[in-house]
Amino acid sequence: MQHIKIIQGDLTTAKVDAIVNAANSRMLGGGGVDGAIHRAAGPELLQACYQVPEINGQRCPVGEARITPGFRLPAQYVIHTVGPVYHSDPTPEKHLSAAYISSLQLAYSNNCQSVAFPAISCGVYGYPHEQAAEIALAACNQKPFSDMEIFFYLFGDDICSVWQSVYQKQVVTD
Ligand code: APR
Repeated sequence: MQHIKIIQGDLTTAKVDAIVNAANSRMLGGGGVDGAIHRAAGPELLQACYQVPEINGQRCPVGEARITPGFRLPAQYVIHTVGPVYHSDPTPEKHLSAAYISSLQLAYSNNCQSVAFPAISCGVYGYPHEQAAEIALAACNQKPFSDMEIFFYLFGDDICSVWQSVYQKQVVTD
């Protein structure tokens, strides 16, 4: 778990190879961290998202990930992923885990050494924070990603302490 760090702060400031955006399947921006990333990256990011092919109205289905340049962000890349909407997704755990794993696989295949995540689905999409933290940390602790530096940039004291306590529990069982 030493390769995973929890930070309370704004994801758009992360000096890493790739930051992960909690997007929606149309990938044309939104509120929350999606809105913050688009504001910080500049208008070229939206243009790049438009270039991502749409299949049945979706650029990125739930649980998958797509990559674009980071433009004005400190990060070289933005990896856009779509987490589950907690109360309507039939398999929220599976899709949340898949969102983290797809993002890490895409980062790995683009030779990223460092990746920073927000708390995917923990805002508008309503995922309970403790369950989300357990799924997120378990996904990031999988063998293939142990050589990557992984950061969680969390907004607010509450969610940060939830992530910290889940992290401590997993360190003990590691
Ligand atoms: N840095 C880090 N975390 C942030 C930032 C930021 N700048 N802004 C918001 N957050 C946090 C929220 O407080 C929440 O804990 O990111 C977490 C994810 O919340 P949302 O951004 O609402 O993402 P999500 O719940 O996955 O919902 C995605 O919201 O913005 C729209 O287009 C997006 O439709 C999609 C949906």
